[in-house]
Amino acid sequence: LNTPLVLVNLKCYTESIGNGAHRIARAAREVTDESGVTIGLAPLYPDIHPINHHYDIPVFAQHVDPVEPGAHTGRMPLLAVKSAGAIGSLVNHSEYRLNIADIEKNVTALRDAGMLSCVCSNNIATTAALSALGPDYVAIEPPELIGGKISVSEANPGIITGSVDIVKKINPAVKVLTGAGIHSGKCVKTAIDLGTDGVLLASSVVKAEDPAAVLRDLVSLL
Ligand code: G3P
Repeated sequence: LNTPLVLVNLKCYTESIGNGAHRIARAAREVTDESGVTIGLAPLYPDIHPINHHYDIPVFAQHVDPVEPGAHTGRMPLLAVKSAGAIGSLVNHSEYRLNIADIEKNVTALRDAGMLSCVCSNNIATTAALSALGPDYVAIEPPELIGGKISVSEANPGIITGSVDIVKKINPAVKVLTGAGIHSGKCVKTAIDLGTDGVLLASSVVKAEDPAAVLRDLVSLL
């Protein structure tokens, strides 16, 4: 995907279920067309196919289970999200942590399937370990800032530069995203100026009355 990437995780908010997902996808399509900035969405599973089909924007799953297709019940194998149209998946989000063996399994399976992995990290040491696995993206998100009004760019620029530096040393092919509390063009610009390849965010767009206006502001200084 082109850099910078603005990746919006729709999580499980009321505002992002069903028609809500379409509302946000329409806004993402509109702002992508106006700005040329790549905006991807990570919707709930049932919305992967319709969003990919109707809006032609990059769609990620929020999670995949590290299982092969077969006798499992209630699980979500990689092949299922791929056939629905996802081009990648978040892995190890703060709200859905995995152990390191399962993270590695998912990263490898995504790569083998020709899909993108975006592995989430909570601090610089974890970023170092995860970048050694060779995902496409590591997204650094301090958990205490997730869902808040103060962004990682404002509250903890050190964790961004520290992550960028350590990834460069360990595996320079890995792209770095950052997230938590990202809500304005200034937050995004700071993240990019500090060396990241984009941002991962949720609530400022999902809970907005006018998601297109927020997205427009987010990309306004790029
Ligand atoms: O996955 C994105 C995320 O955890 C950040 O959420 O609401 O702080 O933008 P938010």
